[in-house]
Amino acid sequence: MAFYEEFVEVMLSAEQLQKRVAELGAQITQDYRGKDLALVGIMKGSLFFLTDLARHIDLPVTVELMGVSSYQGGTETTGEVRVTHDVSKPVHGRHVLLVEDIIDTGLTMRFLLDNFAARHPASVKVATLLEKPSRAKVKVGIDYKGFTIEDRFVVGYGLDYGEKYRNLPFVGVMRTD
Ligand code: IMP
Ligand code: MG
Repeated sequence: MAFYEEFVEVMLSAEQLQKRVAELGAQITQDYRGKDLALVGIMKGSLFFLTDLARHIDLPVTVELMGVSSYQGGTETTGEVRVTHDVSKPVHGRHVLLVEDIIDTGLTMRFLLDNFAARHPASVKVATLLEKPSRAKVKVGIDYKGFTIEDRFVVGYGLDYGEKYRNLPFVGVMRTD
């Protein structure tokens, strides 16, 4: 029995994730053909989605990482966002696609959109694997979305609980029974 089976129930299987990520990659390939695209993954949650998505984009993209922290340890966001790691190259004049694991309250993405707008890229768009619309505190436009989910705390495929469970190949819900 795998280590997680006792604690986590599958919500989105590895197959469902891979199929949807391939579709998003194909869409992004179409939309950005002939454009200079920088993928900016938001650490650490987006890492697994980012690397799978990048492999489905048939364009010479660059990959950057941005680290932000908004969680003080629990499952509730505080609204306070802090940059812990910045991109390594300027994005001025380039097309930026911010890649997130989940948009929950929207506060992190709102901060990132404002932060990137100030760098004067050619454009900034948003790709997120998951959205929990019922939790939104601020409205952010999502250009590429994997799945809409209900208000459950999820783990796996990059998403963590206390830094663990990121390495599950699926998205799951912590068992409460
Ligand atoms: P927001 O600022 O509330 O939209 O929070 C976004 C960040 O909170 C995400 O990038 C995740 O790191 C984290 N987060 C929100 N919901 C969940 C969840 O259900 N599981 C794990 N992390 C989550
Ligand atoms: Mg995150």
